[in-house]
Amino acid sequence: MKPIVYVTRTIPEVALALLRQYCEVIYRDEVPPPSREEILRSVENVDAIYCTLNERMDKEIIDTSPRLKVIGTMSVGVDHIDVEYATSRGIYIVYTPGVLTETTADLAFALMLATARRVVEGDRMIREGRWKLAWAPTMMLGYDVHGKKLGIIGLGRIGAAVARRAKGFNMKIYYYDIMRRRELEDELGVEYMELPQLLKESDFISIHVPLTAETKHLISEKELRMMKPTAILINTSRGPVVDEKALVKALREGWIAGAGLDVFELEPLPADSPLIELPNVVLTPHIGSASYDTRNRMAEYAAEGIIKVLKGEEPENLYNREVVKIRPLHSVKMI
Ligand code: GLV
Repeated sequence: MKPIVYVTRTIPEVALALLRQYCEVIYRDEVPPPSREEILRSVENVDAIYCTLNERMDKEIIDTSPRLKVIGTMSVGVDHIDVEYATSRGIYIVYTPGVLTETTADLAFALMLATARRVVEGDRMIREGRWKLAWAPTMMLGYDVHGKKLGIIGLGRIGAAVARRAKGFNMKIYYYDIMRRRELEDELGVEYMELPQLLKESDFISIHVPLTAETKHLISEKELRMMKPTAILINTSRGPVVDEKALVKALREGWIAGAGLDVFELEPLPADSPLIELPNVVLTPHIGSASYDTRNRMAEYAAEGIIKVLKGEEPENLYNREVVKIRPLHSVKMI
């Protein structure tokens, strides 16, 4: 009997074809995520769930799915999954690290440039018929990016990829991380700083930490008040790492100069969010990894991980490696 995998929403064809080679696929071919009730109804008899970051995989879902062996998420973030509980139940979690690193770093850099050089404001000025002077010495002035100081919070894969780009812009690079990354300090020429000092020194601050209980509201009123009035904050990680209310206040009252945001405390961003009214903010709709190539590769990588587990082999993109001790691979083998 083939293993049964529930795919929560429309995914790139390449991943679907791969899953279909080995599994019976319950495919919910719809772009929006399923409702909670629909997920609960769909997972009762499945061996695997293929999900995205919009579907919360918590205790209730896991308990509703007695045959469940593996959850594959088409994301590098796993904050939507109760990892501890899943692990305790012997459920393997596979995700998509590495394959979206460069694409997400590209977007962080794009936001940095767009915010500092007022690219979106300029575009709006033209479209709204407000470009009246061909050129003026003081028109639409922004901040240089090249040669400035960049503070990276979280020097993991994506943080390091942002640092590599920043080197090409001749930036001075600082980082803060819960772990000192000495090998990267030498390779990238980055300098470790405690968070308060990094906030005080940097012209640009780019966040690249996962969302955990420790990183929730890591950047809050106190931290925003430490930043320079000319500083620009970039967030392509997870919205709740920044206290959005405090950020709005900081942007309105000029504690900092601007922000480039791809992620928000609530997504989609509510239409009445005060961020929408602020001219010194560039907003993108959680598209850090959204290139054709990268989304295909992410989709495929999550599927490969699921299949590996169901073959009783350890995938390289296994998130909770300790699960192997709780439920050995040979006991999940179905293919
Ligand atoms: C996107 O936010 C991801 O976690 O892959």
